[in-house]
Amino acid sequence: MDLNIQITKTTAPKAKPTDESKLGFGKIFTDHMFLMDYAPETGWANARIVPFGPIPIHPASTVLHYGAEIFEGLKAYRTLNGDIKMFRPMENIRRLNNSAERLCLPQIDEDFCLKIFDTLVELEKDWIPHQEGTSLYLRPFLYGNDESLGVHAVHHATFALICSPVGAYYAEGINPVKIAIESDDVRAVRGGTGYAKCGGNYAASLRAGEKAEQKGFTQVLWLDGVERKYIEEVGSMNVMFKIAGEIVTPKLTGSVLPGITRKSCVELLKEQGYPVSERLISVDELFEAAENGTLEEAWGTGTAAVVSPIGWLSYKGKEYTVNGGKIGPVTQALYDELTGIQWGKIEDTRDWCHKVC
Ligand code: COI
Repeated sequence: MDLNIQITKTTAPKAKPTDESKLGFGKIFTDHMFLMDYAPETGWANARIVPFGPIPIHPASTVLHYGAEIFEGLKAYRTLNGDIKMFRPMENIRRLNNSAERLCLPQIDEDFCLKIFDTLVELEKDWIPHQEGTSLYLRPFLYGNDESLGVHAVHHATFALICSPVGAYYAEGINPVKIAIESDDVRAVRGGTGYAKCGGNYAASLRAGEKAEQKGFTQVLWLDGVERKYIEEVGSMNVMFKIAGEIVTPKLTGSVLPGITRKSCVELLKEQGYPVSERLISVDELFEAAENGTLEEAWGTGTAAVVSPIGWLSYKGKEYTVNGGKIGPVTQALYDELTGIQWGKIEDTRDWCHKVC
């Protein structure tokens, strides 16, 4: 599959942000976006880059009624030598297709998808911020577009890509966040859509997230949906703990998102000689470790969140401080190594970074 991408440039380019320390996350959008449409008769067609703006949608469209939507998140960086690079984009593309399979949405050819990312990023390269800790966040999304209220697998769909210059995801930046362990709502169950990156998973997480925020927490940590016992992930990131020298991260049981930053961190930590275990970890084990002093560090991993230290954990009225509420040495080293590779400060020996231009 290699469609021609038609490009219509905006006649009214927007002013770019001048203060890169105030970008925040996902509030500013670039001048253009990518769109293409799927129909059974044509396959993917009408691949186009157009000025950024509203997308018309039929009121009976499948996505509005039955939530047929998946998305991805990846970043393009301005590296030290001036190259523009994306971090492991093929991993995002493969996960996008896995999510599409789960929601009966059409697949996208991997190489063509990379060409879409490359074309839009190159066109928008002047929007990529310069300051350390900033990047251009790419948000590809794919949604069902059948104009019918029957509940069936999707036949018509749209694939879109928008870009946003971003800074840190959390207001705390690289400072430790406060996390509440949720004991009522669950995010996902095995056999459900937990491993897929679909909008519905995030919609289901909002009530608990709001409740936690009102109590002063940054995000919620989810327990498994069956026994409500095993740790799964945090609102917008996977989670890792250092317990008595061992790095532990919840294994991918089907209800946990297979994070690309998670995978990269596991690979980096193993190479550095840490014992890393992807296994079930119960909330009781975690709090026993917190109480007997063997919970040494906790952090989240995600494209948006990068590597984000967790300083406080709360569960059923009990609160625990991790590493005195400060970023730990392994978390800091992991953040430095990963961002060093992404920003071109450290040699990319694993071929993780894809050069756009
Ligand atoms: C990402 O890390 O890219 C995500 O998709 C998390 C998010 C929902 C902001």
